[in-house]
Amino acid sequence: ASYKLLLLPGDGIGVEVMAEVERVIDWFNRRGAVSFETESDLVGGAAYDAHGQSISDETMRRADEADAIIFGAVGGPKWDSVPYDVRPEAGLLRLRKDLKLFANLRPAVCYKALAQSSSLKTELVEGLDILILRELTGGVYFGEPKEITELGNGQKRAVDTQVYETYEIDRIARVAFELSRARQSRVTSAEKHNVMKSGVLWKEVVTQTHKDGFEDVTLDHMLADALGMQLVRRPKQFDVILTDNLFGDILSDVAAMLTGSLGMLPSASLGAPDGQTGRRKALYEPVHGSAPDIAGQGKANPLAMIASFGMALRYSFDRGAEADLVEHAVSAVLDEGYRTGDIMADGCRLVGTQEMGEAVVKAMDRL
Ligand code: NAI
Ligand code: MG
Repeated sequence: ASYKLLLLPGDGIGVEVMAEVERVIDWFNRRGAVSFETESDLVGGAAYDAHGQSISDETMRRADEADAIIFGAVGGPKWDSVPYDVRPEAGLLRLRKDLKLFANLRPAVCYKALAQSSSLKTELVEGLDILILRELTGGVYFGEPKEITELGNGQKRAVDTQVYETYEIDRIARVAFELSRARQSRVTSAEKHNVMKSGVLWKEVVTQTHKDGFEDVTLDHMLADALGMQLVRRPKQFDVILTDNLFGDILSDVAAMLTGSLGMLPSASLGAPDGQTGRRKALYEPVHGSAPDIAGQGKANPLAMIASFGMALRYSFDRGAEADLVEHAVSAVLDEGYRTGDIMADGCRLVGTQEMGEAVVKAMDRL
């Protein structure tokens, strides 16, 4: 099979880490049972500099046609003063919005080699493998009204509105249950039904969806604040965590820090399955940004970007064995002591972006 990938490197280290993922894609094109046709395009500040938009309609068309989008990172001080609606981040937001990417997957995996040099207790994080599923297009970040009003007495009033409808909760719950089946078939849903109406509905709909064909999956409910506590106290008790946009934002950042560096964290954003092909629109990107402080120096850790492509193999192309190969290769280079600056530890070998990418591909040859 051959799939179409749209590569959007973006700005700063986005460009540097994308070059390393291309090495991995080339490896599959040479060696694998699966191959990829790639097309590259501009997004973010690079696109703004070229044509005044952070993403063009033509790029959006390509994104819509691609089987998956591989995204680097956007932004940087160079574009700090460009108008709000064409700022680099707007390109990413348009992709998420127009392609309706409502399900954000944030795995938190702690590689063995990094658990040992973790600032946290090794036994707490060693073997950690959880998946946080965050609703990405609804909730309090988008609900109306959203405003600050003057009250006239020198006081102001700020309003944000948390809104969720049944279909929004149902569709993300389905993704959670489906994904959990390739893992430990355990889903923990987090809300605050004790103080929020949206929490009451969330719990009700998730419970209902679970009954609709997912009863083989174990479902638990936990209050989001209690879950935050458990995540730090005993993170390995979780498999898939299902939650809304706001709680997911916070909980996924907490989980991220259990695993080490930003340079290690991949993510995926999925849309609804296509009526004909059943395939979901999908964008894969590292969690980190364009890292202006190290951009252009060949220091960036490419492993988050490479692991994001691993997620594409798993979730867009149903290539579990190939995804495992990429993950094992990442794990192997860490075991061999290869480290970029962000994850450097005593007795390890400091390498640059390119050398790390080459090491991953060599490990894939061997495994
Ligand atoms: P950042 O993630 O770019 O950097 C935070 C810190 O982590 C920096 O010290 C950086 O050097 C380090 N770091 C990040 N990724 C790394 C990697 N792969 N290897 C080694 N070190 C790494 O976040 P920051 O500094 O807040 O934002 C910089 C720019 O990126 C801003 O313009 C921001 O808006 C943008 N940004 C874009 C995102 C995206 O494209 N999805 C996400 C987050 C920020
Ligand atoms: Mg966040």
